[in-house]
Order: sequence, then C-alpha cells, then structure tokens
Amino acid sequence: MVEAVSVGPRSNRTVFTKDLSAPDPVPEAGIEAANQLLRDGRLFRYGEDRNSLPEAALFEEEFADYLGRRYAVAVNSGGGALFLALKTAGVAPGDKVLVNAFTLAPVPGAVAHAGAQPVLVEVDGSYHVDLEDLDRKAGGSEASVLLLSYMRGHIPDMDRVLEICRRHDLTLIEDCAHTLGARWGGRLSGTFGEVSCFSCQTFKHINSGEGGILATDDPDIAAKAILHSGSYMLYAQHRARPPLEVFERHKYDTPNFSMRMSSLAAALLRPQLAALDVRIAAWRRSYDQLAALLNRVDHIVVPARSPKEDFVPSSLQFTLTGLSDAEILSFLEDCDRHGVHIKWFGRAEPLGFTSSHRHWRYLAEPQELPRSDGVLGRLCDLRLPASLTEADCDALAAVLRESMAQLAEGASMP
Ligand SMILES: Cc1ncc(COP(=O)(O)O)c(C=O)c1O
Repeated sequence: MVEAVSVGPRSNRTVFTKDLSAPDPVPEAGIEAANQLLRDGRLFRYGEDRNSLPEAALFEEEFADYLGRRYAVAVNSGGGALFLALKTAGVAPGDKVLVNAFTLAPVPGAVAHAGAQPVLVEVDGSYHVDLEDLDRKAGGSEASVLLLSYMRGHIPDMDRVLEICRRHDLTLIEDCAHTLGARWGGRLSGTFGEVSCFSCQTFKHINSGEGGILATDDPDIAAKAILHSGSYMLYAQHRARPPLEVFERHKYDTPNFSMRMSSLAAALLRPQLAALDVRIAAWRRSYDQLAALLNRVDHIVVPARSPKEDFVPSSLQFTLTGLSDAEILSFLEDCDRHGVHIKWFGRAEPLGFTSSHRHWRYLAEPQELPRSDGVLGRLCDLRLPASLTEADCDALAAVLRESMAQLAEGASMP
C-alpha cells in the first residue's frame, strides 16, 4: 500500500513521505486470474495433452492488437526480447550493432549476449540519439542493425531515423522498454522497426515483475523467436503467430534458449494492458505539472518535447546547469534527506538503474563520446508512479526548489 504524502514543516522544509519506488498495484482482475492459475497449478504456458489456460497466448494476441502488429511473442524479460530480436534479425557473433549511448545496461548487454559489438552513438541535449553522429557512424562502421533505445521514453525525430536507416540499409530494432503506448507523429512506438521489444519488469508501464515481449510483422522473425523462446514444438498453441508452415522452415535449425513467459506473468499483464490508457493520462498529467514547476527552479532545465511526440512519462529527466559535481551531489543528498530520491547519470560508479558507457568495460574498444559525457554528467532522473496526485507533484517540486535554495544559501556562506 502506498503511503499518503505528508507535507509538513520539519525545520520549515517540505518532506515528501510517499515512496516513489512503490509500484502501482496489479488490478483485481489480474489478482483473480492469478489465483485461478495457482489453484489450477498450470503455470507453464503450454499444455501437453490438455491445454493450459491460454493466458500467455491471449496476452500476446491482445498485445499484437494493441500495437497493430501481426505477431507478438511473450518472453521472460525485456533484455531477453532484445537478444531474440538481434538473433532473429540475423545478427551474428562479431557483427557490429549501432546503439545509442544513453540507455540502460541490458541494452549493450543484449548485444554482447548475441556475441556482437555495440557501436555507441552520441546523445543530444534533449536526450535523443544524435542523428548526425548516427548518420556518420552508420556510414563508417559496417553495422547493419540499429538498436534504437527510446531511453526514459524520449523518441527522436523518426522521419529522420527512418531516412538514415533506409540510406544505410540498416535494420531497425526498437527498444520500447520505456515507450509502451507512446507515439511519434501519431504512430505507436514499436511499429517503426522490423522488430520491437518491450519490458514488463516492475518499473515499466505494465508489470509482472519480470517479462518481455517481442513484436514484428515478419513471419520468419516471429517463428524463430517463438522457437528460440522454447516452445517445445507446441508453437501451434500461440495465437499471434505466423502460419504453421513458416515454423517448418526453421524448426530444425533454431535452438531452444528457454526464455518463455509464464502463464502467471501473462495473467497479471492482461488487465494492465487493458487499463493502460488510464495510467497514461495520469502519468502525463503529473509530468506536465512537474515539468512546469521544475522549469521555474534555478539550475534545473526540463527540455521541451516535440509536439509530434506523445510520450508516456513514468519518469522525468532534467538537466542541472551551472553546478559542479560536488554541488550536484550535495543537492541530491539534500533532496534524499527530504524524501525525494533522484538518480544521476553522472556518478563515477554505476548505481541503481544508472550506468554509462564508461561502466561497460566488456566493450572491445573504449569509445569516445564527449557529447554524451557532457549530457549524462548533468542528467537527473525522477521516477513518477502513476498514483501521484496534484498535491504530491506540488510537494515534490517544493522539495527540489527548497534543496536548490539550500544549496545557494550554503554557497553564499563565508
Ligand atoms: C531502456 C531499457 N531497455 C531494456 C530494458 C530491459 O528490460 P528487462 O529489465 O525486462 O530485461 C530495460 C530495463 O530496465 C531498460 O531500461
């Protein structure tokens, strides 16, 4: 249960008492469906003689419908979906894959899992992939795949991305871990590339603890992903799948990597997907309120979003300008003491959901990314549960404003 906010004077300071890391609850319908499965004991997605409750197959079907793609494959994690997307798109050991540098560790990790080498692309000041650097590196790196991560929900100019992919003959794989339900130019993220991947880890838009989904219109990619995910030749039980003859082309050559989603995870996800639009409206309301309030605080800049971007903000990013690293740390510690935990991508050490290319030392060659270092070194990240109220957002902004004022006061002391 999430605690209520109390905004009260403690040394005249606002204290935020709601737990920003608390997930949103699973809808009652999901709890009931999960209980039914627990009573039944058939938690594995495939039945042998008798079919299990087809929760995973139904979830895939509903997900494909939501997205408007022909096929969806539910797997055990978002990182697993990325790995399968790379494998089924033909990435082989030793290949190079273009990846934006502003992303989370499972993304270069999935490239490494496929035995390939990430070629990191710079991030710009609005947290998008730097399109000029992408164009340059696509031309000079022998990569044939772009794994585009919409990190923290920021979608770049997709007309330009698609144009660059066309010109350099790149296969586009979308990492939509932070953009389920988001659109660019009216088109859903996850429908631009040959394959798209989603995560259902607890802090994503729909939550089963662990889980991932791969979506595509390509029948061969879908059949291979189902076979790789570990369907024990029971793939006919899928509903959002290609015709059975497509599996005949691949079934002897596609290893089983055992990366299935369980029926239990799917049962929890189905009602969350059905209610997603309600959550999206709540996130947008909180984000818009907070962004306006924070843009009035000295040293804080929340970059403007393109009117073409319809984002689903389960978190908010801002840049701290004109502060040293020591001042940033002091500001963040003060916010923490007043109940608001903010992540910072500029930390020397990787910590709780933040890391940067400097921490991925398994990359064959260290990559020089001066622009990304500059942007990430000032980039902060605040989680937004969908349950935040207007009063919560006022209190959150007050904590940051007061911590910044405290910093300024400290700096002016002799
Ligand atoms: C940008 C991004 N992509 C992919 C993933 C992978 O998701 P999972 O944790 O489900 O493997 C994450 C997870 O946090 C992520 O943040």
